[in-house]
Amino acid sequence: MRHDLPSLVDAVVDALEERLQQRLGEKAPKPLGLATGRTMVPIYVELVARVQRWPADEREDLRQGWCSFNLDEYVGLGATDRRSFAAYMARHLGEPLQLTAEQVHLPDGRAADPEQQACRYADQLQSFGGVGVQLLGLGSNGHVGFNEPPCGPDASCRVVSLSESTQQQNAAAFDGDPSQVPSQALTLGLREILAADEIYLIVTGKAKAEILKQLLESPCSDQLPASWLRNHPRVSLWVDQAALDR
Ligand code: GLP
Repeated sequence: MRHDLPSLVDAVVDALEERLQQRLGEKAPKPLGLATGRTMVPIYVELVARVQRWPADEREDLRQGWCSFNLDEYVGLGATDRRSFAAYMARHLGEPLQLTAEQVHLPDGRAADPEQQACRYADQLQSFGGVGVQLLGLGSNGHVGFNEPPCGPDASCRVVSLSESTQQQNAAAFDGDPSQVPSQALTLGLREILAADEIYLIVTGKAKAEILKQLLESPCSDQLPASWLRNHPRVSLWVDQAALDR
């Protein structure tokens, strides 16, 4: 008899759902670390569908106790701009789960002083005890968050310049025009990411096959920021077949 393997999305959401259930029983659970990008869309869709099936009291407990910190935001974009990560999070998670904007933290892309905003965001995360479970996608140049190469493991939350390849990778949300993608972003650094208790790195699709191969075969290097995840004691790598095909 043939048993189909669970899809990658089901497998990731099984693990996430279990963590969310655990958090309900904890006095001061650490914030969830959340990512944006196309990889995460089906994860959030399935997560929302699962949570909608929870008993009403558990769903309400989850809603009341929700606290998440996103990795990054474009400098210059605010929550009212549909292309911002703040708008993405509201669309995919905040609105369906009826969370308030105060529960779903992101760096403020409209802050008058972005450098100061980066420090504030890092301090705020620290005041909540740092990240519990961190979701991560992988940039096609090996970035995580917006930690563009070269980037070492001690880089902290800061303002970064986006590379041309990243502007191209993310152009879809900007009518396909890379020149519309902001040239700077605020991002948690590898320092904050590596301080998470647990990390889920999720890599899907053929477009990621080459960088995944490099990630699996290369030693730690500033040229491949995601490679520093090797030094973390609890990283799960979730990969679909397309990303493994070469
Ligand atoms: C983007 C974001 C990351 C995201 C990654 C992968 O640039 N800064 O947070 O995880 O790159 O994006 P995608 O899932 O669209 O391939």
